[in-house]
Amino acid sequence: MNRLEAMILRMTAQRAALDWAFTQIQDVPGDLVEIGLGNGRTYDHIREHMPGRRIWAIERKLQPHPSCMPPAQDLLEGDASEGLARLEGAGIALANYDLGGQDPQTPDERAVRLTPLIAAALAPAAAVLVSTQRLPEHPKLRQAETSDEIGQGRVFIYLSAS
Ligand SMILES: C[S@@+](CC[C@H](N)C(=O)[O-])C[C@H]1O[C@@H](n2cnc3c(N)ncnc32)[C@H](O)[C@@H]1O
Repeated sequence: MNRLEAMILRMTAQRAALDWAFTQIQDVPGDLVEIGLGNGRTYDHIREHMPGRRIWAIERKLQPHPSCMPPAQDLLEGDASEGLARLEGAGIALANYDLGGQDPQTPDERAVRLTPLIAAALAPAAAVLVSTQRLPEHPKLRQAETSDEIGQGRVFIYLSAS
């Protein structure tokens, strides 16, 4: 598979995972968080599908597409560990973890460091965490079963457990 095809599959899986998450959290109150705003593509998708929800955006190097700049009061600029610490106990309904990384299958040092902080920000039950990298095991997270379209190691979905 060439790199263009791999990228298309990865983004298709990411969109499918987010779309699945939207249906899961329809009746789950709480804010949402984009961890890794980047260009703002997934942020744009989330805000289009979840109007009326507050979407926090975490980014250490702010440079989104101008149309995807979050409102200043929702921006958590700086390292993700700081932004997530601010959201501890916030009852987040959906988190999208998209910080990049070399190997989607293996949690890197950042994922190991940040996973407990993400778990602490999520609503205790029924929250969804979509991740472009496999995350380490955590007692408050369980991996969701995914469809073929979402799965195949391109994107990972976790559910919070109380
Ligand atoms: C793959 S891009 C995000 C893509 C974005 N979600 C989109 O759809 O356009 C990863 C982003 O995470 C940011 N990032 C990486 N490590 C970070 C960290 N430790 N704290 C905060 N932001 C980080 C990078 O600056 C980069 O903008």
